[in-house]
Amino acid sequence: MRLLPELNSDARVLIAGASRGIGLALCTALLARNDVAQVWAVARQASTSTELAELAERYGQRLKRLDCDARDEHALEALVSTILEQCEHLHLVISTLGILHQDGAKAEKALSQLTLASLQATFATNTFAPILLLKHLLPLLRKQPATFVALSARVGSIGDNRLGGWYSYRASKAALNQLLHTASIELKRLNPAATVLAIHPGTTDTQLSQPFQGNVPEGQLFEPAFSADRIIELVGTHGPDDSGSFWAWDNKPIVW
Ligand SMILES: NC(=O)c1ccc[n+]([C@@H]2O[C@H](COP(=O)([O-])OP(=O)(O)OC[C@H]3O[C@@H](n4cnc5c(N)ncnc54)[C@H](OP(=O)(O)O)[C@@H]3O)[C@@H](O)[C@H]2O)c1
Repeated sequence: MRLLPELNSDARVLIAGASRGIGLALCTALLARNDVAQVWAVARQASTSTELAELAERYGQRLKRLDCDARDEHALEALVSTILEQCEHLHLVISTLGILHQDGAKAEKALSQLTLASLQATFATNTFAPILLLKHLLPLLRKQPATFVALSARVGSIGDNRLGGWYSYRASKAALNQLLHTASIELKRLNPAATVLAIHPGTTDTQLSQPFQGNVPEGQLFEPAFSADRIIELVGTHGPDDSGSFWAWDNKPIVW
């Protein structure tokens, strides 16, 4: 299966949130493909991630590691300048940026646990960083087939919310979905071959889900490599006609 439905050349890919978890698994899976020419691995600690260092040893110049805090627009500008020195076009960008209980975020169970600080921290990483990443990468996403994916979460669906809780995380992903859908409309005008997707990777065994894995039914906690493969399949299945939509790992659409 082609990496992107309409892509006829080897792909240049950027993964934001690449130092661990699903982002790292995506780098591993993409580098193993012979239709991927280059992977840019971006995280705050990309250059010190032992796992990314191992991939760099194995794949050499096909992997470029860049440190960037995606909440910082100056850092995003510097990131794009560095990439533009070596490459004019990216075919696939996947943002795995997201926090649930780190960096000041809290997985609240009740309104009484909400704070402005934790709401802001969650929105900064889960909502603002991915859309600012897209804004800054726009010069690299023109004219050819280009797909921008952000990992969202099923709990960001308002229609699917029956349990409540996780106020900041749910709301940050719902707002991310709206931003992605809005961007898909603008991108259609700039580049009709562009695709923007929100994807729920399924509950995956990473640092983010670690404290909550006790409630996950048997067989429904995925390895990062499994989730990465499902995401790559979705990217290969959904082209420009599906831009602005929200999919689960099993290729079922999720209501907003
Ligand atoms: N795991 C699940 O069960 C699950 C379920 C549904 C949705 N998701 C979504 O899937 C995505 C990936 O989750 P995960 O479980 O793989 O998380 P994770 O293991 O915690 O990894 C998050 C990655 O994002 C990077 N990152 C965080 N803040 C950053 C920033 N400001 N700038 C640049 N990089 C940053 C981290 O690296 P550094 O610390 O080096 O920056 C790390 O590489 C998230 O959006 C999450 O909401 C996950």
